[in-house]
Amino acid sequence: MLDFSFQNPTKIIFGRGKIARLSKEILKNKKILLTYGGGSIKNNGVYDQVHTALSGYKVFEFGGIEPNPSFETLMNAVELARTEKVDYILAVGGGSVIDGSKFIAAAIHFEGDPWDILAKHAGLQKVVPLATVLTLPATGSEMNSGAVVSRKSTQEKLAFHSPLIFPQFSILDPTTTFTLPLRQTTNGIVDAFVHVMEQYLTYPVDAPLQDRFSEGILQTLIEEGPKALTTPHDYNVRANIMWSATLALNHLLSMGVPGDWTTHMIGHEITAEYGLDHAQTLAIVLPSVMYVKRDEKQEKIIQYAKRVWNIGPADAREALLKLHPEDADSETAITNKIIELAIAKTRQFFESLGAKTNLSDYGIDSNSVSILLGRLEQHGMVKLGEKGSVTLATSKEILENCL
Ligand code: NZQ
Ligand code: ZN
Repeated sequence: MLDFSFQNPTKIIFGRGKIARLSKEILKNKKILLTYGGGSIKNNGVYDQVHTALSGYKVFEFGGIEPNPSFETLMNAVELARTEKVDYILAVGGGSVIDGSKFIAAAIHFEGDPWDILAKHAGLQKVVPLATVLTLPATGSEMNSGAVVSRKSTQEKLAFHSPLIFPQFSILDPTTTFTLPLRQTTNGIVDAFVHVMEQYLTYPVDAPLQDRFSEGILQTLIEEGPKALTTPHDYNVRANIMWSATLALNHLLSMGVPGDWTTHMIGHEITAEYGLDHAQTLAIVLPSVMYVKRDEKQEKIIQYAKRVWNIGPADAREALLKLHPEDADSETAITNKIIELAIAKTRQFFESLGAKTNLSDYGIDSNSVSILLGRLEQHGMVKLGEKGSVTLATSKEILENCL
């Protein structure tokens, strides 16, 4: 196992009706900036629950934070927060609202151009405390120290990390997710699944506990995910997905093991350039990363095949007997077939949830490859992967495979 230090200070308050707990968690003298997105919280009663819980507080509001929150929009909130001397931020929504609010919290007291927080990873001295009410399980932002912000004018999408932006607490009431459109439910499941995969599918470092954690979350998403599409008001299904998504990216899984964030880094460029939802990009890129990096990841893909999908040598041999009987006793052919079957299962899972797995499904053609490679180069994404072996040439192969 690799060395690590782990500290996650976010308190999770989980369950039905827990929004009412806001007044127990935030001091009465706080000047709160309530941030939200395009209005879903007004349609599903979450906004009213928050206001009821915060009666008696001084609350300012900033709505309209868009999916893939933009620097341009967020700077308007920073201006409001500075003018009103806000000293607490409550983000109510999905990953975009939470990420955007983390940026607002970081930018309020930042001296200089706040874009540097993203573009230059400028250090933060003082951050306004932040809490969240999560309405879309997907990103893990409610319990992690990262945020991703886009800049419309330059079509860039960049991340920043700081221990200062962990939410102080997050309220997770699964009933708030009953109103999610199918597309967002799917997005959340795919995003969480890929977060786990990027901390799991690297190379073995004798960390069986981390592996079992990851496999447990993957299996839960595989079992519960489809149910959320057919029975969206099933509390326990929503609860299991919500907790899975939080645990998928609250840094626990990555402790002591290598990580490979290639899929996310390429995915961010696709969103910035073509506007696909975050998870839509991941469903396209992950199978391709698995395929192109299958030799480097061989041991873990075989483990994933066996433990997550119950695919082993007997299944591979059976498949080979149908198509290439002459290879049915070759160990190499069996290994390759297991890998192929595991990738196919992953792709089928995404597609069964309604996520498409090719760029061409969105009308994006081969011209995109050079454009996206240029963006990766511009952002220094030239040595990605658990071994830094994903050069631009490898990314080219990955992207060509995504078409
Ligand atoms: O804006 P509103 O009206 O609230 O509607 C949202 C939005 O249109 C809607 N929605 C949210 N909760 C709802 C709901 N609709 C009905 N009922 C509810 N309960 O869903 C739409 C999408 O919301 P968004 O917040 O954009 O989705 P998500 O949570 O998937 O967040 C995506 C963003 O997070 C970033 C992504 O890059 C993307 O910008 N990520 C953040 C990470 C982090 N901080 O650690 C890691 C991730 O890998 C990811 O990069
Ligand atoms: Zn993600």
